[in-house]
Amino acid sequence: MELDRAASLLLAGDPQVVRNPYPVYRRMREKGAVYWHKPDMPFVTTHALAKACLQDDQRLLTRRAEDRFKLDSLSEEDRKRAREIVAFEALHLSGMNGPVHQRVRSAAVRAFTPSRIAHLGEFAKKVANDFLDQLAGEADCDLVQMSYRLPLLVLMELLGAPHEDADMLKSWGDDLAGVKGFAAGGVPSEKIKAGHDAISNLRAYAASLVERHRKQPNNLSLLSVLVEARDGGRINDEELTGTLVIILYAGHLTTTDLLGTGIHDLLLHRDQWSRLCADPNLAKGAVEEALRFNAPVQMMPRIAAADMDIGGHRIAAGTSVMLLFGSANRDPAVFQDPDRLDISRVNIDHLAFGKGVHVCIGSSLARLEAQAVFDTVSRRFPEMRLAADPADLEWNPHPKFHGVKRLPVRLGRDCGRTA
Ligand code: HEM
Repeated sequence: MELDRAASLLLAGDPQVVRNPYPVYRRMREKGAVYWHKPDMPFVTTHALAKACLQDDQRLLTRRAEDRFKLDSLSEEDRKRAREIVAFEALHLSGMNGPVHQRVRSAAVRAFTPSRIAHLGEFAKKVANDFLDQLAGEADCDLVQMSYRLPLLVLMELLGAPHEDADMLKSWGDDLAGVKGFAAGGVPSEKIKAGHDAISNLRAYAASLVERHRKQPNNLSLLSVLVEARDGGRINDEELTGTLVIILYAGHLTTTDLLGTGIHDLLLHRDQWSRLCADPNLAKGAVEEALRFNAPVQMMPRIAAADMDIGGHRIAAGTSVMLLFGSANRDPAVFQDPDRLDISRVNIDHLAFGKGVHVCIGSSLARLEAQAVFDTVSRRFPEMRLAADPADLEWNPHPKFHGVKRLPVRLGRDCGRTA
């Protein structure tokens, strides 16, 4: 298939292309470190250049795409709602730049201390074991049930929110995310209304959490760190709510995809699965290799703040430059035999968590969750096998967020809880 056509299918989330985008990336890389999909759409394909772009945070900025709302075509009421959604999204770390980003990020990052992360790793292990207890009676089960639920519960624990509120918070988060991905045709009115209602609900919920925290402080939570920052005047109320929301949003499905796709890849590469089962100390390396081999976030855009040169290409101010993490992670200039899954690779400099000032704030937590799950699952169910033809598995219909939607497995003999 012609490369530009394949790239268009990838961006459109075509099921056949998104399940294995790597041949398309390879062809793009072979054309150069920058591949022009359209005259205004450069893709950065190599590890070296993608990393350099991530580190060039003065000239390459993150941005929320507000033009997707097609404001002129909206009713007055929807236009007002859309503007408020854009203003709320600007409170997300991932959409901030410069000193504001630095200020809010340095407040939030204090929640990710080694002792807090270790506590959450133990919690994740317990949740994984409890899940496996429930699933153990069933001959076949869908492991995505666990890979969806576990990170959500870990996030509730991190936030310091009651676990039973998880579904409610998640549905507001989904409504807020529902206004994304409509670049071409504008956002439907009912989505704008749902996203706008979600913001009101999230604000009220965050305020109630803060009240609760004042009465019953939980010093292990992200909330306690953010309340302290707010009381100290380092962030305001809106930034507190925005940070709670972005952490919930950025930390959930990314981790779901790492857990589901990681186990899928290990089961398909039986030799690697057997090595992990024989030596659970390999879980740490298995997680790094899973992140490299099938990165949950395949690409992220940056906007050129000024006319600039990238890899010898002239980029005009305002151009959206797509950094292909999935391609960088399979770049043969950095990774020997990049299409081979090998859980004993060392010093894996993958870009699955990005780099530079926006590098994933939850990377140590995500790593520990995945280690807990890989370790627990491989110890308890070494005979586990996929219970479907891999070619029949459905993947997220999305170019950026890469993961299996269902993971049917046959568990086999249960060797019992280890922790
Ligand atoms: C396997 C799981 C995860 C993956 C693959 C992942 C990936 C990423 C990537 C690639 C970025 C950088 C985006 C960019 O440069 O534009 C990022 C940023 C971020 N991640 Fe993660 N993430 C994961 C888990 C988490 C978790 C568990 C949390 C929270 C507990 C989290 C919170 C965030 C936040 C808040 C940002 C924005 C940081 C900033 O802009 O300063 N992520 N993540």
